[in-house]
Parts: sequence; structure tokens; C-alpha cells
Amino acid sequence: MSHEVQDRIETPLDTGEQCAASGDGAATEAEAVTGAEDVALTVNGSIRRAIAEPRHLLVDTLRAGCGLTGTRAGCHEGICGTCTVLLGDLPTRSCLVLAHEVREPVTTVEALEGDPEGDLIRSAFARHHALQCGYCTAGFMMLALAMLRSGQRRTVEDVRTVASSNLCRCTGYRPIVAALVDIVAARDLLDGDEVTP
Ligand code: FES
Ligand code: FES
Repeated sequence: MSHEVQDRIETPLDTGEQCAASGDGAATEAEAVTGAEDVALTVNGSIRRAIAEPRHLLVDTLRAGCGLTGTRAGCHEGICGTCTVLLGDLPTRSCLVLAHEVREPVTTVEALEGDPEGDLIRSAFARHHALQCGYCTAGFMMLALAMLRSGQRRTVEDVRTVASSNLCRCTGYRPIVAALVDIVAARDLLDGDEVTP
């Protein structure tokens, strides 16, 4: 990661200035970053213009360029799933995608704020105490949102398989799976009886 990107991750004021609605002068900021180019992303229903070098990852551009720090990077190697966002409706590891390659709308955990599906997801995680340090939580919440958007019916075992794509070092997974099962059941997408995972 470049020093420019790292600096912006650690400086909220700077991140706010880097991401803005289309046409507000982001190109001028681009000129200030050596080798960087303007990139337009559709994030949570809005067009965002950020500054990203061609080699920059989506996760870092969301955080450093757009100030959307709810998406976290754990391993930066495609293993942990902590950086999961939706591209279109598909859960995607944003550390495996270059920002300049993105063509689909991006949904991040910030989209859950004030959203009915977001309320369902957040209340289930709270009810089941499905987080401790919370570092992995955004990734698991995006898995939940992807399951709701797919409309696919799933068994508890299917939900466990979905959850297994992401790593959590704190909870032991049972509370997370319980929350995910509740979320699926609340939208009548659970096949079979709901059981304590
Ligand atoms: S940070 Fe992307 S998978 Fe770990
Ligand atoms: S709650 Fe700490 S890593 Fe999952």
C-alpha cells in the first residue's frame, strides 16, 4: 500500500475530501497524487469519484478514497472475507478487485444504515451477540444481505456453508450462524425447521 493511501486511511478529514459526488473537483485532487487517476464508482446508489492509482484495490479505494471505512481489510490476500462487499448482488472480496476494474454497483456495509434489510440484519446480530471485537462483522453482514437479495431458499447447513467463507477469530461462529439463520427465516427463505445452529 502506498504511503498516500495509508495516510488517508488514518486521516478521516483527508478521506472526506477525497471522495465526493461527481463533478465537485475530484480531478484536481487526482493531479496531486503521483500516478493516480480519477475513478468513478457507484457506491450505495451514489456516483462517487475517488483518486486511485491503477494498482489500488477496491477495499483501499473505498476506505481511503471514499472514506467508507466500514469495509475492513484483514489479510489483503483473499482469505479472510473481512473485506466483503457486494458487486451487483454478489458477495465479493474487495481486496481481490482493482478499483479501476469495477463496473458493477458496489454495496458496502454503510448501505445498511436506515435500510429495512439493514435493520433486520443489525438487530439479528445484536440479538444473538454475533460479534465481539467486530472486525469481521461488516463482511458477515454483507453475506447476510447477499442471501436476502438472492431470494434463494437455504437450509441451516447451507447458511453454515455461506458463513464458512469468512473468518472470525472471536465468536466461535455459533452466534453468527444463529443470526444468519434468523435473518433468512425472517424473509421466509429458510428450508426446513429453524434449529439452534
Ligand atoms: S482482506 Fe480481503 S479476504 Fe482478507
Ligand atoms: S468478532 Fe472479532 S473477528 Fe469476528
